[in-house]
Amino acid sequence: MDEWIDYYDSTHTIYASKLHRDLHFQIIARDIIGHISSPDAVVLDYACGEALSASRVAEACGKLYLAEPAPGVRGRLIARFAPNTKIRVRSLDDLRKMDEKSIDLVVMNSVAQYMTPDELDTAFAIIRRLLKPSGRLVLGDILRPEVGMAKDVAALLKFAGTHGFLKDALWGLASTALSDYRQLRTKIGLQRYGEDEMIGKLSAAGFSASRAHTNIGHNPWRMTFVARHAF
Ligand SMILES: C[S@@+](CC[C@H](N)C(=O)[O-])C[C@H]1O[C@@H](n2cnc3c(N)ncnc32)[C@H](O)[C@@H]1O
Repeated sequence: MDEWIDYYDSTHTIYASKLHRDLHFQIIARDIIGHISSPDAVVLDYACGEALSASRVAEACGKLYLAEPAPGVRGRLIARFAPNTKIRVRSLDDLRKMDEKSIDLVVMNSVAQYMTPDELDTAFAIIRRLLKPSGRLVLGDILRPEVGMAKDVAALLKFAGTHGFLKDALWGLASTALSDYRQLRTKIGLQRYGEDEMIGKLSAAGFSASRAHTNIGHNPWRMTFVARHAF
């Protein structure tokens, strides 16, 4: 759904403040590092966004590919990480041209909800081709059908309260309620999957998957799955 890519390429207000944005990317980086099994690992962050803490992830692995569809975001990634020889920035189209069986870990966090089910299947096929036989796909921040927007708000306020940006979060929620995000969320919605449904979808794409104990990021109401090649 290109509208969401355009949204993430715009000057959006998804983060309530600089502190919120910085903490978000620090926590995502910490959680991605938790899934890296070797310091030599080749890691791909699929639709990585601004990836402000990617240098930390790169320190914990051999090579980090940052793939991002939004051209403006990608331009900033190229500029930000040009001095880091462990980091390479790619478009999603570039991924089709990369060597098969070359990646140890693919992370796709907080992305599937913005894709149609068919787009997600296409992404799974591209990722499966790239993964080494021993490689893993970590699919994070999957929304469940039975958990509504109120839980997203509760999770954000708890995160903000713990980290001292509650006032900014409340202002942020008020402006988000009036923003393009709210309009898009109401107009095209976010894709949601039950636990068994996502395991089935991954299985149909050639993966054997299970749900991880904890979600990537701050929202415990959403789910993370770890998938490997099913042989
Ligand atoms: C919420 S951000 C997540 C960024 C990062 N992975 C993180 O965890 O912070 C959503 C990302 O999905 C990308 N995106 C939105 N719609 C997409 C689509 N239909 N296909 C692929 N990526 C998409 C956006 O460009 C953006 O980078």
